[in-house]
Amino acid sequence: MSTTQEIPTTSPIGRGTPRVDGPLKVSGKAQYTSDFHFPGMLYAVPVEATIANGRVVKLDTAAAETMPGVRVIFHRENIGKIFRSVLGPGFEGIIDERRPPFEDDVVRYYGQYVALAVADTFEAAKAAADAVRVTYAREKPNVDTDLNADDEPETVATTYAPTNKRVQSERGDAEGAFATAAVKLDQTYVTPAVTHNPIELHATTAVWEGSTLTVYEASQAVFNLQGILAQMFGLPKENVRVITKFLGSGFGGKLWPWTHCPLAAAAARQLGRPVKLVVSRKMMFQTVGHRPRTQQRVRLGATADGKLVSLRHDYVNHMAMLDNYHEDCGEATPYHYSVPNLRVAFGRARRHVGSPTAMRGPGAVPGLYATESAMNELADQLKIDPVRLRVMNEPKIDEGLGIPFSSRHYLECLELGAEKFGWSRRTPEVGSMKRDGLTLGWGMAGCAWLAGRFPAEASVQLRDDGTARVACGTQDIGTGTYTILAQLTSQKTGVPLERIEVVLGDTSLPAGPVSGGSMVTGSVVPAVFAAADSAIASLLTIATSAPGSPFEKLQPADLALEGGRVFVKADGVAKGVPFTDLLRRANLRLVTGSGKSEATLGNPKPKFSTHSFGCHFIEVTWQPEIARLRVSRVVTVIDAGRILNPLAGRNQIEGAVVMGIGMALFEHTTFDPQNGAPINSNLADYVMAVNADVPPIDMHFLDFPDNEINELGARGIGEIGLAGFAAAMTAAVHHATGVRVRELPIKIEHLLA
Ligand code: MOS
Repeated sequence: MSTTQEIPTTSPIGRGTPRVDGPLKVSGKAQYTSDFHFPGMLYAVPVEATIANGRVVKLDTAAAETMPGVRVIFHRENIGKIFRSVLGPGFEGIIDERRPPFEDDVVRYYGQYVALAVADTFEAAKAAADAVRVTYAREKPNVDTDLNADDEPETVATTYAPTNKRVQSERGDAEGAFATAAVKLDQTYVTPAVTHNPIELHATTAVWEGSTLTVYEASQAVFNLQGILAQMFGLPKENVRVITKFLGSGFGGKLWPWTHCPLAAAAARQLGRPVKLVVSRKMMFQTVGHRPRTQQRVRLGATADGKLVSLRHDYVNHMAMLDNYHEDCGEATPYHYSVPNLRVAFGRARRHVGSPTAMRGPGAVPGLYATESAMNELADQLKIDPVRLRVMNEPKIDEGLGIPFSSRHYLECLELGAEKFGWSRRTPEVGSMKRDGLTLGWGMAGCAWLAGRFPAEASVQLRDDGTARVACGTQDIGTGTYTILAQLTSQKTGVPLERIEVVLGDTSLPAGPVSGGSMVTGSVVPAVFAAADSAIASLLTIATSAPGSPFEKLQPADLALEGGRVFVKADGVAKGVPFTDLLRRANLRLVTGSGKSEATLGNPKPKFSTHSFGCHFIEVTWQPEIARLRVSRVVTVIDAGRILNPLAGRNQIEGAVVMGIGMALFEHTTFDPQNGAPINSNLADYVMAVNADVPPIDMHFLDFPDNEINELGARGIGEIGLAGFAAAMTAAVHHATGVRVRELPIKIEHLLA
C-alpha cells in the first residue's frame, strides 16, 4: 500500500466533481458527430437489404437517380476501391469483420447495405434510397435460437478471446470430480441477443482535401479507426484524421468501425464533397453490432457442506457469417471461486445476423449471469445461505493463472452489501416474506470485471494566463473523461479545474486509449502525471535560468510547484511566486510536457491478477393476483480501487444497475425466422428500463487503492455494475415466486406458468 501516492485534502482527486463539460452539453454547444456541417456537404442514406441470406441479382437505380437533388446512387460498380483492413497489434486475424462494404453481391444479414443514395438534402437521399429497387436470389436464413457449437478446429481464430483454443481454462479433472461429487447441479442458461441503444446514433461526416481524409465519427477509438481507414483507402496514416469530440454514449457499439463509415468516406472521395451519413435507429439494430445470444451449460459439483469440487462452463455464442466474434463468457469463471477441478470451453454458431460486438462488460456479463445463477441454485440445493456459499469458496489467489490478486476485496463487498440490505433477516422459503400485502423476493449475486491499462500518451501545458491545457487522443463516451483529465491536471499543477482546457477525441493529439474495457481512467493517470511532471520540470528550469528570476541562482531540484506557485522547498509555498510571473518574465507563452505510459493489459506473464469486484442485493415485490413484479430495492457494493470522482463513479454504477434491470426484465432483440430481420428494431418495441422501473439505488464503493494499476490505485467502473445483476434478479424472482428463469429476459408468462 505504501507506494500509492498520498492525496492532499485540497486535491480534486477523490472529490465528487461535476462534469467540466456539463455546461457545454446542457447549452447545446457540445458538438456531437452529426452536428458538424460543412459548405457543400451532401447527405448519404444507405439502401438496406430486405433479405438475410442470398444474393443481389439486380439493382434498379433508374427512378432514384432522376429524383430531385439526387447526386449518385452508389453500389459495387461505382463506389471505387475500398481495401480490406486488419486491426492493430493484438487484433491480427480479425480481417473478416472489417471487410469493406459492397465487396461482393452476397447478402449475409438483414439490413446489410447494398447501395448508397447521396443527395443535396437528407430528405432527398432518403427518398432516393427508398426508390432503389433490389432484386434478390433469396435463400432461407438461419437465425435459429438453439445454439449448438459449429464444427470448428481445436484451434480457432477468435475476436477478444484470451486463447484461440476451444478449451479456455482447465485444471484438475473436472469431469471425474463432477461424477463423484456429493451434490451436483447441471443447468443451461440463455441470454438473448441484445442491442446497444445509445441516444446518439452512429454517424460519419467525411471530408477530403486532396489525398487527406478527415472523418468525424461517433467512435470509442479514434486511433484504431484512423489505422483502418488508412488501410481501406490506401493512405499513409498521417493523411487520415479522425475526430470525436463528444459521444452520446456507446456501450461498446462504437469501439470498432462499421460499414457506414468507409461508405461515407468513399462517397465523399468520388464526389469531391463532404458527405454526412447518420445511421437510423432501425439500422442501429441491423448493421452496428449487438451482444450475441449465448447458451451456457454450467455444471457444479460440491461436497455436502458446500465446498466446490468441480466447475464446468461450456458456452456458445452466435456469430455472423464472416466474423470470428467470441463472447468471452468464461472470463471470470477460472478465478471467481476456489475450485480444484475446472474446465471452461466455448464454441460458436454461425447465423445470418449482423456482426455481434462488445457490449458493456462483454463476456463477463452473460457469463456471470450463468455462473452466479448456478451458485444461487446450488446454495438452495444445499440449503446454505448464498452469501455463505460464496464466502466458503473464496480463493486465496487467482487459481486460473496461479498468481495473486493485486487487490481483491470481494468478501468485504459481500459483508457490506449484506449489512446495508439487511440480508440476515431473510427467510429462505419461497414466498415466505411479505410486506404491505406484497410478496417479497430477495436475491444476491457477485460480480467481477478485468482491470488494466492500455498504452497512453498525453501532453500538459502551463500558460502565462494561469490556465493549463491537457491533451490526450482518447474519447469521452459520456462517462466523465473530460473531467478526469482536468482533475488529474489540476492535481499535479494546482491550476483550478475551471482554468483547465481539456482536449481529446482527435488523432492529431497524443495517442490515447480506446474507450473500452473500463480502462481509460486507469490508463491515463500515469501518462497525464508524467506529462505534467515534464511541464513542471521545464518550468522549474526556466525559473532558475531566466534572467531576473527570483530563483536565478538555484537548482530546479531546490524548487517545487504547488497551488500554482513556484517556491523554494526549504522556504515553503507561502514565499512562492505564481508560475505566470515566471513565464512572463521569461517572455514565454507556455511550457509544455509530454508523458507516456505502457499497457499492463496483454502482458503474457503478469505478476498479479487485476480485477474489480462487487455484489448486488436485490428486493422484488410480487403480486400474484395481478402478476405484477417490481424491483423495490437495490444495494450494490463495488471494489474498484480508489474512486477518483465519486459523483461520476456513482453515475456509472447506477446507470449499469438500470441497464441490469432492463437486461433481467426487458431487453432482447428477436430475429424473424422467415426473413432474418430484427423484428423489434425501434425504441417502442425494444423495451428498456425507464425511471419508473428503477427503485432507489443504495450504492457503495469500497476504497482499496490498487497499486498495480497506477499511482493513484484507480481501476475502472464503467462496466462492472452490470455484471452479476441479472443473476441476483432471477434469484430474487425465484425467492418470491418459486419460478426459476434460466432464459433472459424474465417474462410475465414465465411467472404465470
Ligand atoms: Mo466497453 S463494451 O469495452 O465499450
